[in-house]
Amino acid sequence: MKKDLISITDFSKEEYLKIMELAKEFEENPNQDLLKGKVVASLFFEPSTRTRLSFETAISRLGGRIVGFADPDSSSATKGETLHDTIKMVSNYADIIVMRHPLEGAARYAAEVSDVPVINAGDGANQHPTQTLLDLYSILKTQGRLDNLNIFMVGDLKYGRTVHSLLQAMSEFENPIFNFIAPSILQMPKAYKLHLEQKGMKYFEHELFTDIISEADIIYMTRVQKERFSDPIEYEKVKDVYILKNEMLENTKPNVRILHPLPRVNEISTDVDANDKAYYFTQALNGIYTRQAIISHIMNLK
Ligand code: CP
Repeated sequence: MKKDLISITDFSKEEYLKIMELAKEFEENPNQDLLKGKVVASLFFEPSTRTRLSFETAISRLGGRIVGFADPDSSSATKGETLHDTIKMVSNYADIIVMRHPLEGAARYAAEVSDVPVINAGDGANQHPTQTLLDLYSILKTQGRLDNLNIFMVGDLKYGRTVHSLLQAMSEFENPIFNFIAPSILQMPKAYKLHLEQKGMKYFEHELFTDIISEADIIYMTRVQKERFSDPIEYEKVKDVYILKNEMLENTKPNVRILHPLPRVNEISTDVDANDKAYYFTQALNGIYTRQAIISHIMNLK
């Protein structure tokens, strides 16, 4: 039976840990010809820099070949071809499909249609599971553990798919504490809070965080997702609501690390970049090793 990665909950905690081990191996030895003779389809119906390029780097370092598109305007979707037909056909061409799509649920639908494994590279405001696995790897590398961590999620918690997947993954570990910092219109959706309540896990909601920032182990900043707003006036009201500045990190824990899935707009001041607690660019680098590990796991290459 084929294995897909559509939601982070498609993998078990044991699989997360296996991916972490594999990512470490790939970080130590990135060039391995495990995908030689295989073709990976990379279908990006929505813009991307990191996810697409780190997947392509991961595939190249594994010796595989890539077909696909970075811009759906260059595909026959512009002629009215359905997602069903595109996926049905591409699954005849490639051994595995990596797909980003603006519609929530599009990746699950693609997996149902496809004869080959599908990896969700982000579907609307829903899930971004490969980002979560590289986030877990980044947290493990910087904290030495995934249990007993105080995680601050800051910004657009409503539309930010990365925080949805990360919350679900971290809830598999022991005693996480979640602090959600968002303006009222961008709060964490109820379904995710209910998920924590059902597991008996603690979460707190705030509109400000300067007075509690000293408690954080991880500060996960997010961009306000302009592309998901139907009303541009609503976006303007909240676009710069949180800007992390270097001086705000003065009394934070020595182990705290600033994560951000990127791209950043204004939510992290550039004066933070030189701070040892800033980890977002290394986090993006970790995406290569983690995506090598994900492909390897799904295709049973090791
Ligand atoms: N983190 C992330 O998904 O970045 P891109 O949109 O550039 O792929």
